[in-house]
Amino acid sequence: MRILSVVGARPQFVKLAPIATALHGKAEHLIAHTGQHYDELMSDVFFQDLGIPAPDFNLAVGSGSHGRQTGAMLAGLEEVLEQARPDWVLVYGDTNSTLAAAVAAVKMHIPVAHLEAGLRSFNRRMPEEHNRVLTDHAADLLLAPTEVAMAHLATEGLADRSVLVGDVMTDVLYLTRDAVNAKQEPLPDGLVTGGYYVSTIHRPDNTDDAGRLAAIVGQLSELDKPVLLLAHPRLRALAGEHGISLDQGALRSIAPLAYPQLINAVQNSAGVVTDSGGLQKEAFLLRVPCTTVRPETEWVETVELGWNTLVSADLSQLGAAVSRPAPAATDATPYGSGEAAHQVVAALLNGSARS
Ligand code: UD1
Repeated sequence: MRILSVVGARPQFVKLAPIATALHGKAEHLIAHTGQHYDELMSDVFFQDLGIPAPDFNLAVGSGSHGRQTGAMLAGLEEVLEQARPDWVLVYGDTNSTLAAAVAAVKMHIPVAHLEAGLRSFNRRMPEEHNRVLTDHAADLLLAPTEVAMAHLATEGLADRSVLVGDVMTDVLYLTRDAVNAKQEPLPDGLVTGGYYVSTIHRPDNTDDAGRLAAIVGQLSELDKPVLLLAHPRLRALAGEHGISLDQGALRSIAPLAYPQLINAVQNSAGVVTDSGGLQKEAFLLRVPCTTVRPETEWVETVELGWNTLVSADLSQLGAAVSRPAPAATDATPYGSGEAAHQVVAALLNGSARS
């Protein structure tokens, strides 16, 4: 069997890593990189650090408006699919690369499997929400990370195509955490365990409006401990445009970290403040309290278990939320125990596509 994985953005490289390992020796695995993320720190270091084989196809699509970026991927992927003729196209998560690959494949009658199916924010302003809903409804096999995701798929009439596999990011996180701890990786300059927060902000709803971004940055700069701000290129660019400094008060901005260094920074921090999906879950798995700067989350389990708090409309609540008392300990494993990639491979090898 030949499986073609299509990836393009940072979180997809993380998800691809355990799949590439689990597929090794079980099926022929080809990788197409759309080039949505292209900076060395947003792309190449993930392939190196996570031991992912080099892509077989690279479209180098780069940045652009949603339509331009997605359209360029669609055209490029059609040629890749023509050449590769896979038995399955495996798409990951909720980015423009995910949607482009799903659409390109279904138009060519090539079965599509969607990894991380069934997540919903129910926020129709988010490009990721359009991408995941459209991809789920186009795909033939829906690989869901949680019971909640399975329930969303059932509500949308997609139960017969859905399989609960667990969360592959959990697989990578546990392996990386163990490797980092065995090596005793140092923390970024001058930071001590429990003495700082880690922050990432990149979503359009938080970065594109100058007033909103200034308010978030202002709140972060007043937190009671140093804030290590891992600046996504989108944040860096828009802060520059709006004339907002990312190095004021408690704030200290640095370039995005490679994955092992990110895990190390988070597990030693006093808390995380983010609008990233993946980081909310990573904080929970490392049992670090998270404050999410969004009105809702797809990873509702982190909130229900008390490890994640949402702050959005009233940003003046941010400081109190971040320094709230520590959540109650839990041994809940809503994201599985680190074996999801094997479940994915089993589903692909056994699964018959919808006719
Ligand atoms: C994308 C995904 C989002 C995911 C995020 C993770 C979509 C709609 N969004 O958002 O789901 O959570 O990736 O990081 O697909 N840029 C660079 N260098 C890069 C990549 C991007 O400078 O390597 C800049 C570009 O100039 C662009 C901006 O960052 O203007 C945004 O990039 P884009 O790929 O459109 O979306 P993200 O905001 O990264």
